[in-house]
Amino acid sequence: MDHFEHRAGVLHCEDVPLDRIAQAVGTPAYVYSTATMVRHARVMQGAVAGCGTGDPLVAYAVKANPNAAVLKVLCEAGLGADVVSIGEYRRARAAGIAPERIVFSGVGKTEAEMAEALAGGLLQFNAESMEEARMLSAVASEQGRVAPVGFRINPDVSAGTHAKITTGTADNKFGIAAAGAMTAYAEAATLPGLKVQGITVHIGSQLVSLDPLQAAFRRVGELIGALRAQGHDIGIADLGGGLGVPHGPGQPEPPSPEAYGAMVRQVTADWHTRLLFEPGRLIVGNAGVLLTRVVRVKPGVRAPWLIVDAGMNDLMRPALYDAYHRIEAVRPSGKRATVNVVGPVCESGDTFAMDREMDDVAAGDLIVFRTAGAYGATLANSYNSRPLTPEVLVDGDRWAVVRQRIDVDSLAAVAEPEWR
Ligand code: LLP
Repeated sequence: MDHFEHRAGVLHCEDVPLDRIAQAVGTPAYVYSTATMVRHARVMQGAVAGCGTGDPLVAYAVKANPNAAVLKVLCEAGLGADVVSIGEYRRARAAGIAPERIVFSGVGKTEAEMAEALAGGLLQFNAESMEEARMLSAVASEQGRVAPVGFRINPDVSAGTHAKITTGTADNKFGIAAAGAMTAYAEAATLPGLKVQGITVHIGSQLVSLDPLQAAFRRVGELIGALRAQGHDIGIADLGGGLGVPHGPGQPEPPSPEAYGAMVRQVTADWHTRLLFEPGRLIVGNAGVLLTRVVRVKPGVRAPWLIVDAGMNDLMRPALYDAYHRIEAVRPSGKRATVNVVGPVCESGDTFAMDREMDDVAAGDLIVFRTAGAYGATLANSYNSRPLTPEVLVDGDRWAVVRQRIDVDSLAAVAEPEWR
């Protein structure tokens, strides 16, 4: 459920009509609903409540939407953070997320990133290779500290999602192969700078079936048993993120968080570990829209081209993953039309939808791309010298710009080169 709905013929985000925001801020602009984010956080927390030993931790995957105001809302809603760079670590901390609620994932952590996160404090590094674990041990020893660590297992399970957002097969760079896990833990246990305490898995994103998740978790469960038999003290199992969100009618319906929680409860019943979760999209995906204006409608051979003022640089997901985003008029007339929706960027990939049946709109009208709260603004860039899209947060009947539009002048401003 989200808080975007038509009232008196105008699409609102909570109590704010979207045309009011467009008028004040201009387009394109991302608009987020606080109530929706908070609701999703509660739903996820509720779905996994009581799973595992101790309190489960829902560590929001910051990469989905790292906006400072968004992180603050989620911190207040009780979420921790899954970060993949020191930039994300700093943002999480700046938003108030406590160190003991932060896990650090990613295959390419540098020495400097490890050193800063370790000194600042965190719950766990999720190590993705033995090479990384050795480096982490050295960094920790240098600081006279011991780094809490879990290995990310690559279970070689196909997530059944788009190839570019699958992470748990042998062809993906992530984690260590399950077959090599025992050797890795054995060596890690001998390294002076490490406290080996956990195990983690994340097999992909926008998953619409529980089966691959269940298969991956079973693999983790087997390893926990085998590792304990070898004397390793595994107290934390981090089950990653990946649960898909509904994109609208005609699109694959993902399992509910409740069904996910029930599956987790069943699979992990005899693990006796604390459980961590790293949802990103589930929390913010349907809490955001990209608000854009129709520049013009150009006749096409098969269907008219609806050219909008947002481009692939503002919302990359259709170009990158052939992603579907529901498109709605802010003031629907009730009439429908079949069109191709494209941006102004000079690439054919700058296509949001082909042959899409949607609200009939004309030049000057406002439309939204739904489900744009996750992996939207954070992936945006300024290709074609287009400004960086602003972000707006709505909370009830008030709203605020939480990232200014970065205009072309500032993007283009270069000091005189300092030749060396
Ligand atoms: N944990 C780890 C280690 C991850 O790599 C990711 C996402 C997550 C958690 C959160 O996954 P989620 O719950 O959001 O599915 N840009 C792509 C998605 C890339 C996901 C990368 N990793 C998209 O727009 O679909």
